Amino acid sequence: MFGKRSSFGNGGSARPAAEPAVASPQAVRVPATSPSPAPAAPKPTPPAPQSESRRSEDYYVTKSMIFGALIEAIDLSQLSRLDPESAREEIRDIVNEIISIKNVVMSISDQEDVLDDICNDVLGFGPLEPLLARDDIADIMVNGATRTFIEVGGKIQLTNIRFRDNAQLMNICQRIVSQVGRRVDEASPICDARLMDGSRVNVIAPPLAIDGPTLTIRKFRKDKLTLDQLIKFGAISPEGGEILKIIGRVRCNVVISGGTGSGKTTLLNCLTNYIDDDERIITCEDAAELQLQQAHVVRLETRPPSLEGTGAISMRDLVKNCLRMRPERIIVGEVRGPEAFDLLQAMNTGHDGSMGTLHANSPREALSRIESMITMGGFSLPARTIREMMVTSIDIIVQAARLRDGSRRITHITEVLGLEGDVVTTQDLFVYDIVGEDAQGKLVGRHRSTGIGRPRFWDRARYYNEEQRLAAALDASELVERPAA
Ligand SMILES: Nc1ncnc2c1ncn2[C@@H]1O[C@H](COP(=O)(O)OP(=O)(O)OP(=O)(O)O)[C@@H](O)[C@H]1O
Ligand SMILES: [Mg+2]
Repeated sequence: MFGKRSSFGNGGSARPAAEPAVASPQAVRVPATSPSPAPAAPKPTPPAPQSESRRSEDYYVTKSMIFGALIEAIDLSQLSRLDPESAREEIRDIVNEIISIKNVVMSISDQEDVLDDICNDVLGFGPLEPLLARDDIADIMVNGATRTFIEVGGKIQLTNIRFRDNAQLMNICQRIVSQVGRRVDEASPICDARLMDGSRVNVIAPPLAIDGPTLTIRKFRKDKLTLDQLIKFGAISPEGGEILKIIGRVRCNVVISGGTGSGKTTLLNCLTNYIDDDERIITCEDAAELQLQQAHVVRLETRPPSLEGTGAISMRDLVKNCLRMRPERIIVGEVRGPEAFDLLQAMNTGHDGSMGTLHANSPREALSRIESMITMGGFSLPARTIREMMVTSIDIIVQAARLRDGSRRITHITEVLGLEGDVVTTQDLFVYDIVGEDAQGKLVGRHRSTGIGRPRFWDRARYYNEEQRLAAALDASELVERPAA
């Protein structure tokens, strides 16, 4: 067994130094079976929402007691030198010993669960581990120690996951962000990071987050969705998918617009699959999420300022630098600010086929968002000049949406045509109509072309010898009336 420990690793910085770094004062209510004394002065904790699969309170109390005893018994610095399997074995031995010494009454399966939970706490990301291991979860949202929600199949649900207390949660947040060389604490309470598997992470800590550290993880899908899978899910019809493949290949400048979590990044990733293999692509992202399959890709990531407030590298810096890197296509993960100007300029200056996503609820709103991003970026350009820039640079806006039944659909493929007076004119090539709702509450709809036979990018399609395919896809989607899944 290990010698007595000196301290508990990288203790949570949100906790006052004098407080022991483990065990949850507010969560612990020692059960009759436990001989350990009850910790003093429990703080009032807001009642956790009930969920059917909630574990009994006794389970957490017992786990907390065993955990406390374990931490007393081991030296974590020695433990960290072992490989995960041996560390797990060591923990198993000690936990079994504690259970027998303290006469803990527990079923074998609960004992196994406690052991798993404790190993996750000591060796990994604690209660998050089982959620991170699942591939069907899109988002994990932790709102303080007692409430963790997940998004599965487009719907948000409460889980039975909970942390011992906010200090443990803060500890885990710190562990996550330190993997990419960042830190989160009261002095810098906002942090973007990435898990080793590529999942995107945001942490906002007290005092900004009032009810405890708030952690949001956009889970990385191991099997990236492809356009053919989106077609299978009914996000787009086969003909619409064909049009998107052509748009990706023939170097249209594309803006993907959509609400939060509507599938913009997924769609962008899918579109990039149709880029020819010999093109030099540069991607700029806040947290690298895209997974391009091509051989010639340079991936760039922004950097937040240091604690002293220096050293920040913005998206604008990256996009400007891209222009000196002989890019053929520039892909901006998410356009949020003045980099909109640089992306439009890049699109305009021989980097055809550049793409980016932005938050907007319709293609028209996407255009006004770009205009306001440029205006607010401090460029003193007249509105008309900005609109002229948009018209000459953006070819296509693809709109993604998460509908109220949780399904994700591509609702518009829209072309930017030109300026009429001061107004940017657009035409929808392809739209999704909702026609009703089935008995299970699922929306029923269909994708259809709007009857435009010759889109504005027709010549471009012809240049790439794709005009037959384009004409066929447009014709077919006019005729087919396909109820969505
Ligand atoms: N058509 C689809 N069908 C099912 N799941 C999808 C679909 N498109 C995307 N998803 C899943 O939805 C989640 C959110 O997708 P994505 O990250 O692309 O959204 P986003 O719009 O970029 O979000 P954000 O605004 O947070 O950047 C991911 O888990 C992704 O795998
Ligand atoms: Mg995204």
